[in-house]
Amino acid sequence: MLEKQWWHGKTAYQIYPKSFCDSNGDGIGDLQGIIRKLDYLKGLGIDIVWLSPIYVSPLADQGYDIADYYNIDPRFGTMDDMDQLLAEAKKRDMYILMDLVVNHCSDEHEWFLKACEDPDGRYGKFFYIKTVKEGDPLPCNWRSYFGGPVWEKLPGHDDKYYLHVFHKKQPDLNWENPELREEIYKMINWWLDKGLAGFRIDAIINIKKALPFKNYPEDRDDGLSSIHNMLHEAQGVGEFLGEMRDRCFKPHNAFTVGEVFNEKAEDLPDFIGNDGYFSSMFDFAETIFGSNPGGWHKNLDITPDDYRNCVFATQRKIDDIGFISNIIENHDEPRGVSRYIPEGEADDTSKKLLATMYFLVKGLPWIYQGQEIGMENVKLTSIEEVDDISSLDSYKVALAEGVSKEAALHAVEKYGRDNARTPFQWNAGENAGFTTGTPWLKVNPNFHRINLATQQNDPGSVYNYYRSLIALRKNPDYYDTLVYGDFTPYLPEMHNVMAYLRTNRESGQQILVIGNYQKAPQTLPLPGDFSDVLLNNLDGIQIAGRQITLSGYQAVVLLKQ
Ligand code: GLC
Ligand code: CA
Repeated sequence: MLEKQWWHGKTAYQIYPKSFCDSNGDGIGDLQGIIRKLDYLKGLGIDIVWLSPIYVSPLADQGYDIADYYNIDPRFGTMDDMDQLLAEAKKRDMYILMDLVVNHCSDEHEWFLKACEDPDGRYGKFFYIKTVKEGDPLPCNWRSYFGGPVWEKLPGHDDKYYLHVFHKKQPDLNWENPELREEIYKMINWWLDKGLAGFRIDAIINIKKALPFKNYPEDRDDGLSSIHNMLHEAQGVGEFLGEMRDRCFKPHNAFTVGEVFNEKAEDLPDFIGNDGYFSSMFDFAETIFGSNPGGWHKNLDITPDDYRNCVFATQRKIDDIGFISNIIENHDEPRGVSRYIPEGEADDTSKKLLATMYFLVKGLPWIYQGQEIGMENVKLTSIEEVDDISSLDSYKVALAEGVSKEAALHAVEKYGRDNARTPFQWNAGENAGFTTGTPWLKVNPNFHRINLATQQNDPGSVYNYYRSLIALRKNPDYYDTLVYGDFTPYLPEMHNVMAYLRTNRESGQQILVIGNYQKAPQTLPLPGDFSDVLLNNLDGIQIAGRQITLSGYQAVVLLKQ
């Protein structure tokens, strides 16, 4: 049985600080900008806020390359600003999470600089450094996530290479070394002692490597092999994760959410069970659907039926084991409304349908900044406009395979990480109200149409719909059903229908969430007398006896009589 936790009924929100709100006109979002918007978030119904990295960083991977875990990057503010944010959040009963990036640090971190000075010394052992004699092959043929081999020459040493599974400015930390682990735990506890509620835990599966290094089958013309092939074989990450939980998270009763990909079903209880390594982890079933190791240009589109099947498969898999975290997008993914709604059909109605569907399944609902106003992917005219290192690599890979420039750019437009990173669209004014200066990344030109200020004044907006959704899930009359009730798919074989029941085992209360995931109307049977409407993304509703006729992209939440 799942033990109840304080955070189960909350709503969580991800902030990408660089693009949220700029308080001083330098074009970069910052902590003071976040503080200014806390009341906005509170008003939306947000309780838990995860900040993507704001630590000192050269921003080679937008802060996921940390040069000092104990300080705030001046571009984002100061430690005083951080303390102020924690205090202001506390006043509002809100909880702040930071991003815990400990698979790697920056090549500008003191540890790495010292490792370069003395590769055989204490800090050399914090990393994976290998001697490679001239003419000899690299220690293994893994391909880094951002392209190219995972091995890079150690600065100052012609015969030595270090491992980086992400960018070359993100050297991997050697978790096999207990001294490194101690440093990490010390740092985590330092932050938790400060009053942080917990962490989102970055790329954590990568901390366990299959050793000794060896080659895996090549899967592209570059002669390299996807990291996933190695990860599939790596055993024993649980020993590190269990130690981290016991040494840091448990004593602080911290909330943690893991970025975990490709976990095995039998490992779920260890990861998010009652005594799991993490409080929760993200569901990426729909994110990874259709992805192709050959590159983005080979990805398969996801249809409404596929989307539903992914969500339902996760619900079935998790069952009562733990509490999954549900998202439609994050800072690494395209905008959900541009992805899970068929091309050309994203409008306020379909956006609200998608919101309803993912929000009311079992688990903790997360909103990524801008999602609540229905922000969309950005149109690109040239690769010059792109900042994201992952997009730049994907573009290169596609061109090398003979894909046309147009098609390669189209793939970046669909899957690129900049889509989610364009500045928040606060209003229809200059730079969408994000900055008075020049934004670090182009504002999506659709901000005249899609922005918060306009939506706040419109009761029928996507924004106000999100507020209603959040309020519904928190409404004490339905709370036990929507937060803890059993999940049962309804009409799971029906084309372009996404529907499910939430049932409270104790009270018998039953809620039906039903959506017509297409443009054309559909008439569907109801599984009982569901005539009480709790939420509707359109104005009218047509129920006749045990039948409901839904307009295009209509979604309704119904209570059983
Ligand atoms: C995670 C982050 C991503 C980052 C990577 C390396 O996947 O979400 O943004 O590039 O880890 O830290
Ligand atoms: Ca700023």
